[in-house]
Amino acid sequence: MSKSLIISSDADKVQRYEELLPQLKALLDGESDVIANLANTVAMLKEAFGFFWVGFYLVKAEQLVLGPFQGSLACTRIGYGKGVCGTAWKRGCTIVVPDVDQFEGHIACNSLSRSEIVVPVFKDGNVMGVLDIDSDQLDTFDESDVRYLEKMIKLLPL
Ligand code: SME
Repeated sequence: MSKSLIISSDADKVQRYEELLPQLKALLDGESDVIANLANTVAMLKEAFGFFWVGFYLVKAEQLVLGPFQGSLACTRIGYGKGVCGTAWKRGCTIVVPDVDQFEGHIACNSLSRSEIVVPVFKDGNVMGVLDIDSDQLDTFDESDVRYLEKMIKLLPL
């Protein structure tokens, strides 16, 4: 398959997600390597939306450890219940943070990050990692991001 992402230049956010979903499905189809698939998923999100930081943290020995990402250098380990990522892991649900300064315990890997969304990734009913996306603007993420990112995560063959 073609390895180029095709997104209409005038597409709004929802249209972008709609165009992205079948391309992600095609990209993941037939590839079983988890790291390769996570890496291409973050690349697609970064390219389609230009987010400030996109990456996965994976549960390893009771911590979240930095996985495939695109963006600036990031914290490598996050404890259970710590920061937005560790809290999403603990709660087992997506967290949208419109203003990171208002989230108690937010971990600032980069001071330019202003808002954030964290989506847990499940395998066999347990959280095996989280998708973390940071924006350098306030209030970037809404219900449409929750809906589409959760759909994208469900496509991952884990
Ligand atoms: N802000 C996250 C830490 C990870 S970085 O944003 C890449 C948190 O509070 O868990």
